[in-house]
Amino acid sequence: MKRTRICELLGVEYPIIQGGMAWVSNGELAAAVSEAGGLGTIGRTAGWDGQGDWADNLRKQIRIARERTNKPFSVNVVVLDPRSRDIAELLVEEKVPIVTTAAGNPAMLTPYLKEHGLKVMHVVASCRHARGAEKAGVDAVVAEGYEAGGHNGVDELPTFVLVPQVVDAVGVPVVAAGGIADARGFVAAMALGAEGVQIGTRFIATAECCAHPAFKQAVLDALDTSTVITGRTIGPTRGIKNAFTEKLTEMEYSGLSPEKLEEFIGMGRSPAGQLKGDLEGGELYCGAIAGMVRDIVSAGDVVRGIVEGAGAVLRSLE
Ligand SMILES: Cc1cc2nc3c(=O)[nH]c(=O)nc-3n(C[C@H](O)[C@H](O)[C@H](O)COP(=O)(O)O)c2cc1C
Repeated sequence: MKRTRICELLGVEYPIIQGGMAWVSNGELAAAVSEAGGLGTIGRTAGWDGQGDWADNLRKQIRIARERTNKPFSVNVVVLDPRSRDIAELLVEEKVPIVTTAAGNPAMLTPYLKEHGLKVMHVVASCRHARGAEKAGVDAVVAEGYEAGGHNGVDELPTFVLVPQVVDAVGVPVVAAGGIADARGFVAAMALGAEGVQIGTRFIATAECCAHPAFKQAVLDALDTSTVITGRTIGPTRGIKNAFTEKLTEMEYSGLSPEKLEEFIGMGRSPAGQLKGDLEGGELYCGAIAGMVRDIVSAGDVVRGIVEGAGAVLRSLE
């Protein structure tokens, strides 16, 4: 497989990144992806049950990853999280090599992280945000289309139109995210000019992921039409349709204020759905590509499947 600037930047064999997933991308998962030659990413609250200290949990996840691999991995930081500066300081202390920031102004943390020698990638959902991230000094941008699971950009640009425009808009390498789960998606993204891909949903259905088995099963059961965007007025989020998304959609269409919607969502919906398996009352972040995820495999097999399958996809185009 061709080496891109992303391989050089991150020190990885293949430009395949497992994206940070707040509650469910744990140290084991990140290490398995990195060991297979990609880049694993630990979510800042991975496996945290809400009891005890989040910082202790994050340090534990980093230690777990380090026990399993000597290869580089990343930690995801949501800039708007009130704890984001504390998390950044923890990552500097722990000498984490790479940070993937998202949701918020990249100028807030990038200079600090870069000063301390960390590589920084920032997730963007438009050309304007990509240019802003480049100006803030990030090493690469992740252009995430609205097919992606979890939080999405307000302009709802799909990966297919977002990636080539971001590639044209910035000089730093671009990683494509949203709607990629196999070698076909990988080749398509690279053909659009991306120098790497970031994948979330496919990695939920892996042996190493700490997501609740019922949530993994819901991903396997999902059809092409099983996900929906909710929260358009407060921050669009894609997840599996259930009683929670139905109620939230109804509330949004009835014109309730953002405060009322936030109050309804509350703080614990994501861990309830994704870690504890509450399939109806919880929030199940999941991408539209779930309809193609059919089996639970090892995370390393996901990476190897893409690497081994890419050649055949390319040959089929000749
Ligand atoms: C369960 C879940 C949780 C996620 N949480 C985060 C997060 O906390 N921070 C972040 O930057 N992206 C998050 N994402 C987005 C992923 O990192 C990744 O960019 C996205 O899943 C790629 O699209 P895909 O789902 O189509 O593979 C999440 C995605 C999922 C599915």
